[in-house]
Amino acid sequence: MTGTSDFEGMNALVTGGASGIGAAVATMLLARGARVAVLDRETAGAPDGTLALKADVTDDAAVREAVDLAAGELGGLHSVVSNAGIGSIGTVEDNTDDEWTRVLDINVLGMVRTARHALPHLRRAAADRPGAVSITQTCSIAATAGLPQRALYSASKGAVLSLTLAMAADHVREGIRVNCVNPGTADTPWIGRLLGQADDPVAERAALDARQPLGRLVSADEVAAAIVYLAGPAAASITGTALAVDGGMQGLRLRPAQN
Ligand SMILES: NC(=O)c1ccc[n+]([C@@H]2O[C@H](COP(=O)([O-])OP(=O)(O)OC[C@H]3O[C@@H](n4cnc5c(N)ncnc54)[C@H](O)[C@@H]3O)[C@@H](O)[C@H]2O)c1
Repeated sequence: MTGTSDFEGMNALVTGGASGIGAAVATMLLARGARVAVLDRETAGAPDGTLALKADVTDDAAVREAVDLAAGELGGLHSVVSNAGIGSIGTVEDNTDDEWTRVLDINVLGMVRTARHALPHLRRAAADRPGAVSITQTCSIAATAGLPQRALYSASKGAVLSLTLAMAADHVREGIRVNCVNPGTADTPWIGRLLGQADDPVAERAALDARQPLGRLVSADEVAAAIVYLAGPAAASITGTALAVDGGMQGLRLRPAQN
């Protein structure tokens, strides 16, 4: 049963939880009864009521320390939402090896480090709460559709999609579910920054809205609702799944609108 307190007695860690989708997830988990820790490299935006832990997901020792601290302070860990990530613009010709290494280090290895240090805590929790223990990763429409000027970002999210499936297989018999959510373009500070770099931000925003069949960007809360669903006890039979929250962008093929 889902309900307003379906996370009562559960503890969650949200990476990148101080902004955008992650902050929406942390807020929603708190409202549903969870105790929540946020791991972020900038904690100023961590929602009130969360345990804010400053760490960079590229720093293995810092991730270990923050994950262990979260589990210690909250009294164990049931849900990990691995969401910290950055964007990158360009074709395969545009980014240097250093930029490839930097983005893959955050977007892919950041999730690897988080899971690596969280798994011992999740295993302990799985013994008490079968079905309720999970890792949910923020992937992207860029993993499943070819988007222009996103070679590096798409490669990073394609890796997250495959990683999700492999992790789901590795940990299913330990009672740990692993899923990901594939947002379309979501209205977060990230997109604000992207529009700020565009020659014509109003036209760019209109083009992004129009690219999604629903005709608008998805909201951080809509993505968070999908993540919280996959993380929660109602999704006890769901593992190895990618749930798109993309306004129809992946699955639909519309004819041009008639005026
Ligand atoms: N906004 C979109 O359109 C969109 C679409 C698809 C997927 N996503 C994914 O959603 C996730 C969240 O994006 P958002 O739109 O909320 O962005 P955002 O920039 O609002 O939030 C990202 C958060 O991650 C943190 N972060 C970044 N690098 C970090 C690092 N090295 N260590 C620790 N924390 C770090 C940032 O400080 C920030 O708080 C990302 O993984 C992104 O790839 C976003």
